[in-house]
Amino acid sequence: MQFDVLTLFPEMFKILDESIIGKAKEKGLINVNLINIRDFSKDKHKKVDDTPYGGGAGMVMQPEVVYDAYKSIKDDKAKVIYMSPQGKKLNQSKVEELSKKEHLILLCGHYEGIDQRVIDEIVDEEVSIGDYVLTGGELPAIVLIDSISRYVQGVIKEDSKKEESFAQGLLEYPQYTRPEVFKNRQVPDILLSGHHGNIDKWRRKQSLRVTFSKRPDLLENIQLSDEDKQILEEIKNEVP
Ligand code: ADE
Repeated sequence: MQFDVLTLFPEMFKILDESIIGKAKEKGLINVNLINIRDFSKDKHKKVDDTPYGGGAGMVMQPEVVYDAYKSIKDDKAKVIYMSPQGKKLNQSKVEELSKKEHLILLCGHYEGIDQRVIDEIVDEEVSIGDYVLTGGELPAIVLIDSISRYVQGVIKEDSKKEESFAQGLLEYPQYTRPEVFKNRQVPDILLSGHHGNIDKWRRKQSLRVTFSKRPDLLENIQLSDEDKQILEEIKNEVP
């Protein structure tokens, strides 16, 4: 999967050299190409922004330099995404949808934003990572690259994804590892039983329980089996 990132701060993307995403890059499963928008400035001081027409605080990134940076990597098959708090809010199904593309171009604004004309000219879609405003689109682009890369074959174990699809739309069940007792808290007996059928059932119930108590809104948007519905009723009737 190819990510081209248009940014004024390519150094911020060093974090993608770490851990799972770092390994995916090393193996060539994903490629993150950083394009420094400033390199395309024709100004002798490498200026890329100017004051807003109509007045107001801050600086606005100029359209030409952004367009020239884009043109250097333009590919008609690529989708151009502008990271913006005005965009569609990112969720797991959006991540999965975007992961089906082979090539994404991520445009990161900084300061007060980017001249609207170049956004209108090149952007296919705006994506937000939540209803809050950050200083720029770089952190959101990193979030997007990380979340999409998990869907690229070979980046994470297929088992992890299977469990995810098993739990489709639900929050994850709690996990435990050694030691068996920590601060007087015991690992649930069932996980030590070796009975995989019962463990799967227990985990499904825990997923439903966690989702019901932490994010009941998620339950409204998923299709539950009759068995799940019955388990959910049991959970609702439990005395806290
Ligand atoms: N740029 C600034 N804030 C943002 C957000 N919440 N999501 C995406 N891009 C942004």
